[in-house]
Amino acid sequence: MADATATADRALQYIGSFKKIVGDGFVFADAESLNNYAHDETENLHFLPGLVIKPRTVGEVSAIMKICNEQHIPVTPRGAGTGLSGGALPQFGGVLLSTERMNSILDIDERNLQVTTEPGVITEVLQNAVKEKGLFYPPDPSSRGSCFIGGNIAENSGGPKAVKYGVVKDYVLNLEVVLPTGDIIWTGANVLKNSTGYNLTQLIVGSEGTLGIVTKIVLKLLPFPKYDLLMLVPFNSLEKAGEAVSAIFRAGFTPSAMELVEINALKIVSKFVDSAVVPVTDEMEAHLIIEVDGNHIDTLMSEMEAISELLTKYDCGDVFFADDAQQKAELWKLRRRVAEAVKINGYTIEEDTVVPRAELPALIRGVKQLGKEYNFDVVCYGHAGDGNLHIRIKKEGSIYSLNNPEVIPALRALFELVKKLGGTISGEHGIGLIQKEYMDIVFDEVQMKLMKGIKKTFDPNNILNSGKIFD
Ligand code: LAC
Ligand code: ZN
Repeated sequence: MADATATADRALQYIGSFKKIVGDGFVFADAESLNNYAHDETENLHFLPGLVIKPRTVGEVSAIMKICNEQHIPVTPRGAGTGLSGGALPQFGGVLLSTERMNSILDIDERNLQVTTEPGVITEVLQNAVKEKGLFYPPDPSSRGSCFIGGNIAENSGGPKAVKYGVVKDYVLNLEVVLPTGDIIWTGANVLKNSTGYNLTQLIVGSEGTLGIVTKIVLKLLPFPKYDLLMLVPFNSLEKAGEAVSAIFRAGFTPSAMELVEINALKIVSKFVDSAVVPVTDEMEAHLIIEVDGNHIDTLMSEMEAISELLTKYDCGDVFFADDAQQKAELWKLRRRVAEAVKINGYTIEEDTVVPRAELPALIRGVKQLGKEYNFDVVCYGHAGDGNLHIRIKKEGSIYSLNNPEVIPALRALFELVKKLGGTISGEHGIGLIQKEYMDIVFDEVQMKLMKGIKKTFDPNNILNSGKIFD
């Protein structure tokens, strides 16, 4: 299976059958198309598929899978290709199955506060569609303007709102899934509580496209909160900013976002998006972006005041309140584009560490020390309220982490620290291709055997996104 040329040849042998299933115009074997689907947002990795197929219906996905299963052709499912762990990279060639044409929102059920959607809908499009009905779908990865809801399910994505509202798994009620064998199943029921048998729904969420291809999704919605307030708080010390985070929760507040951006990231992104909304001074090491939301503006104002009062104990500077929608949008734009900006500026390797919230200062301290020890430049940002810290590394000459002996020891040391602090390797990006090397740090053989057993039950011929999460 590992030979991409052989699998491409195998896929090409069946091009006629695939064209019969989806139509001539939706099977691609030309160099440009193959190249377009050879990468995602992960480092600078590149793997050519043998064929790109764009089905429209669940029946088409099932028919494609039946052929691939019988012929042992590797299949890599792909949403928008915004992933950061290499989940959508066709490392074994074969068929790249794109869900981009399965892009309809099928039903917004206002009586039950639910939405049924296809996987190729852009997350922000879905959010806006339900918002028009006064409803709220909170999970909002930074890439929400381009990522697909199907990819979010595959990776169990998070984003800034997770700190109050939870991640994707907390909203998924039921999934239609095409199994690697081509069988079509629903995983559960469209209900808020379910103790009926094993939880197949949650097994599929976060399974990184290795167990099945999600073709329909039923999500829970909330009423849209009427108000939100946003502030930006500068700190003289990055570690103090980390300490302040858990203090806010211990004092009884649950902000709807609590994001951290280290000063070098803020400088880079401010330049990148040409924004002067945040005065960047050299005395400050980090900023927290704090949002509260709810239906009573007075309560929110007093909450913001109480939080800023509390923060004065953590060596913070003048608090900047975003006054209007435009300032809020500007601040969020800065935060959302950090990853892209720092990547373009040479911080190519991104980590997705997560620790219990109060261990954040220890993680920050450790990261900086490892940077010195292994001689790499490091920048931190992310979802501090969740203890989920993105760490980007820049090291002269090293632009990728996969199989790179220069980088692997440093990342092992980082993940060992994370494990020691009670955390784990990935909070919201998944393991995919680039983190599987480190799974042994957080899981022992017994745990890995269970996971591999599950994979085998779903995918006896090991054709669906194999080589992701583990070998
Ligand atoms: C972020 C993405 C990269 O938080 O997870 O910006
Ligand atoms: Zn993130």
